[in-house]
Amino acid sequence: LAQFAIAKKLLEWYDRHHRELPWRVSPAMARRGVTADPYHVWLSEVMLQQTTVQAVKPYFAKFLDLWPTVNDLADAPSEAVMTAWAGLGYYARARNLKKCAEAVARLHGGSFPQTEDGLKSLPGIGDYTAAAVAAIAFNVKAAVMDGNIERVVSRLYAIDTPLPAAKPLIRGRVAEITPEDRPGDFAQAMMDLGATICTPKRPACALCPFREDCLALAGHDPETFPVKAAK
Ligand code: ADE
Repeated sequence: LAQFAIAKKLLEWYDRHHRELPWRVSPAMARRGVTADPYHVWLSEVMLQQTTVQAVKPYFAKFLDLWPTVNDLADAPSEAVMTAWAGLGYYARARNLKKCAEAVARLHGGSFPQTEDGLKSLPGIGDYTAAAVAAIAFNVKAAVMDGNIERVVSRLYAIDTPLPAAKPLIRGRVAEITPEDRPGDFAQAMMDLGATICTPKRPACALCPFREDCLALAGHDPETFPVKAAK
């Protein structure tokens, strides 16, 4: 199946079934080229590392209430940021959050860099966050990879190389199927598909937009992907 057809099916599914989340713009807006606020996208992506969507929601609202812009966060006392973060865990993330806000404010005039490399030069921003922010906030055709996306793609192509060796193969596939148009929605659609349909156990394959394309489903055992290295 042509790569663009994969993206088309996924985006059509997302238009109907996307989760409405406070840091997103609606697919209708995204189709018109509207992108989400980079500060909101970055803040949500940092919070969502190792924390669930439901747990993040109230913290995301609280942070925007206290610090509506990245410049406000840069100027905030560190203790106030740590206090507001309390409960989210992994406190190194909060310290990096503050450092990153300071770098954006002081070195970039309060505007996030718009490329993956520019974003990666900031404190606490690694491959995942750089790709996610570039795609979602700046419409860059970046290959976004997280655990959900690895699972969806390893099933779609029945990649039987064990993780972590499979990562470059998966990344190559993600790069192939990510569209020029709406790369941010494409990444978030993959995340939603992984969270709601292509789940680790008992995936709901009958509802999947890739049910006719998925090589793991054709082989009758999607749950066996991604393959984990023997311990
Ligand atoms: N997990 C990490 N980033 C996400 C996003 N943008 N939407 C939903 N789940 C996510």
